[in-house]
Amino acid sequence: MTRSKNQPTAGEFLPFCRPSINEADVEAVTRTLTSGWITTGPACAELEQAVCDRTGGQAAVAVTSGTAAMHLVLLAMGIGPGDEVITPSMTWVSTPNIISLLGAKPVFVDVDRETLLVSAESIAAAITKRTKAIIPVHYAGVPCDLDGIRSVADAAGIPVIEDAAHAIGTRYSNQEIGSSGHAIFSLHPIKNVTTGEGGVFVTDDVELAAEIRRMRFHGLAAEAWDRNQQGRSPQVEVQSPGFKYNMPDMNAVLGVSQLKRLDTFIERRAEIANRYTEGLREVDGIEPLGLPSWNHRHAWHLFIVRVLPELAGLDRDQFMAALKDIGIGTGLHFRAAHTHRWYRDQGMDSGGLPETEWNSERICSIPLFPDMTDDDIERVLTGIRSVCNVAQEQGAPA
Ligand SMILES: Cc1ncc(COP(=O)(O)O)c(C=O)c1O
Repeated sequence: MTRSKNQPTAGEFLPFCRPSINEADVEAVTRTLTSGWITTGPACAELEQAVCDRTGGQAAVAVTSGTAAMHLVLLAMGIGPGDEVITPSMTWVSTPNIISLLGAKPVFVDVDRETLLVSAESIAAAITKRTKAIIPVHYAGVPCDLDGIRSVADAAGIPVIEDAAHAIGTRYSNQEIGSSGHAIFSLHPIKNVTTGEGGVFVTDDVELAAEIRRMRFHGLAAEAWDRNQQGRSPQVEVQSPGFKYNMPDMNAVLGVSQLKRLDTFIERRAEIANRYTEGLREVDGIEPLGLPSWNHRHAWHLFIVRVLPELAGLDRDQFMAALKDIGIGTGLHFRAAHTHRWYRDQGMDSGGLPETEWNSERICSIPLFPDMTDDDIERVLTGIRSVCNVAQEQGAPA
């Protein structure tokens, strides 16, 4: 791999994530910046085609974030007041927020303690007459049991929208996520492929994609780019009120360039993850997530450990603070949504999600990005060993 412009050097603060930007990315963005067309246009169309080519999906629509993609899909599916949408609480707050903003109710289901994935059984138990959509999360880059979830959803006639924010390049049983059904990917800077900020909806339903395409640009029958073409009527009309969620070409072109390196990124992420798995075996109280039994390709978006205070000698927040003190960044993916203030105020924290809550208090993401050097990996492992040793010597927290 070409050395990235963002590769850290020894001794600097090591963030938990850093985008891999190389000369080809810079050149592609620069070309677009000076091309005379920087908003949604040919590069956005190229990114959408590249995502379809990569995933095998029939249609893709690029927007300004994964959150925007989820908003448009739920709107296009007519989700509104009185409806219920099943989702894990162990997810980014964007999904329950959008469900709530549409006037619908997020119905939180528990996750598996080891993988943080929702199961077909827990979804089946949460379905009611009001359930209008199911949003499983392919957590950290690992796919959910899609066959099981789809068979439960199909039997009830409820659509599944895969939250694949972490899962570009993930495979379930040799099928690339996005190859069938509906999925949203996030292209935020910490994701495996980035456009700066961005998201993309991928589907095998071309009519749904066309509706979302209209809704990303004011609900007009044509887009900014189309309107610039000769021969097209400037009198395009609003089909139904829409949003301003279109992805600019200056962002999309970065995604096109990055997507070409997706497999290289995942291979390096997997190497780092393997080294962590091996190196953490001997550290008491630091427990990586487990992997599901089904055949899959992990995209290794995140490497998550659980900090067990009784063994590690410190709790998760102390662990994160101690690593920060020695120059190592960490992340929290995620504090369970139902424990946030607004959801508590709605009475959504009344129990029933024991595995989610257990993990919400213990999980921590340690540095994982393709440009980490082997020395960086060893620095993280040594750092973890040393903060745990010091804490264990001082005695476990009360
Ligand atoms: C599980 C999950 N869903 C949805 C999103 C939303 O994506 P975005 O930040 O692109 O809006 C994220 C972002 O981190 C996420 O982690």
